[in-house]
Amino acid sequence: MQIGFLGAGLLGRPMAERLQAAGHRVTVYNRTQSKVADLPNVGIAVAAQPEEAIRAGACVILMLADAGAIRNVLLSLAGKAELKGRTVIQMGTIGPQESRAIQQEVQAAGGDYLEAPVLGSIAEAKAQKLMVMVGGAEAQFTRWAGLLKSFGPEPRLIGPVGKAAALKLVLNQLIAAEIAAFSLSVGLVQREGIAVDTFMGILKQSALFAPAFEKKLPRLLARDYAIPNFSTKNLLKDLDLFLDEAKGLGLNPDCASGVRQLLQQAVDRGLADVDYSAVHSLVNPSNENKG
Ligand SMILES: NC(=O)c1ccc[n+]([C@@H]2O[C@H](COP(=O)([O-])OP(=O)(O)OC[C@H]3O[C@@H](n4cnc5c(N)ncnc54)[C@H](OP(=O)(O)O)[C@@H]3O)[C@@H](O)[C@H]2O)c1
Repeated sequence: MQIGFLGAGLLGRPMAERLQAAGHRVTVYNRTQSKVADLPNVGIAVAAQPEEAIRAGACVILMLADAGAIRNVLLSLAGKAELKGRTVIQMGTIGPQESRAIQQEVQAAGGDYLEAPVLGSIAEAKAQKLMVMVGGAEAQFTRWAGLLKSFGPEPRLIGPVGKAAALKLVLNQLIAAEIAAFSLSVGLVQREGIAVDTFMGILKQSALFAPAFEKKLPRLLARDYAIPNFSTKNLLKDLDLFLDEAKGLGLNPDCASGVRQLLQQAVDRGLADVDYSAVHSLVNPSNENKG
């Protein structure tokens, strides 16, 4: 199948490569062209303008940062003009209301729209193990499930457009809460002089354990947040979307607001583009930072 792909960032790039490896012909557009200059070497075409990628196939996949980026790239005048008769599959993390608004604009331009946000990161994308959550109609799901299996074995239909977006935010709220809570516990373990291995041994045998803890521990211990899987600024974006949604539905999200403050402080300290585990440096500052 011929596929247009907009947004070859941290996760978009390995996803585009997966599609190509699955036998599809992929045309990628990325705002910063230098980041995709090598893709033709692996058989992926690069478009200089978004509209060129959009018209490359019957389907265009979005892996852009946020709704603002989608407006710039997909819903510009030139982009919209190419949407007639094409299907847009939105796979980034945006809010349910944003997704429904984009759906309306795509439909008004004569296109079809479904959302398919994913849980998992670069390693899961490379291993075809992303969890793909689909928001759309049953018929859309049936039509596109085969393609979505290029990213993960079991795409799931969650409900109409907006529901998969909401579920993705629900999950990312847990990512944020887990890293903040885990950093705090690791900090106290270290300051009490308890061996981290002892803490982890008990944690792992308990119902409290989450695999994300073990995955992030080496970064926390080394205070090494470089080479991100998922950036601090994107997690902050997702937590803001979660908070909007949760407040609108009458929940009390104070605990998430606290974590949001930490992420904002991390961004303010220049940690926007590193791995989100950098929140550890705020929760558990090193002695050098104590000053
Ligand atoms: N990384 C993960 O583990 C992960 C997992 C699940 C979901 N997600 C979600 O998937 C989406 C992409 O994630 P990512 O990690 O690949 O993000 P990323 O590395 O920050 O890449 C974002 C992409 O959006 C483009 N972009 C950003 N702002 C733009 C603008 N104003 N106009 C045009 N293009 C713009 C970037 O272009 P440039 O290259 O020019 O900056 C890049 O192609 C996000 O919504 C993220 O929350 C990420």
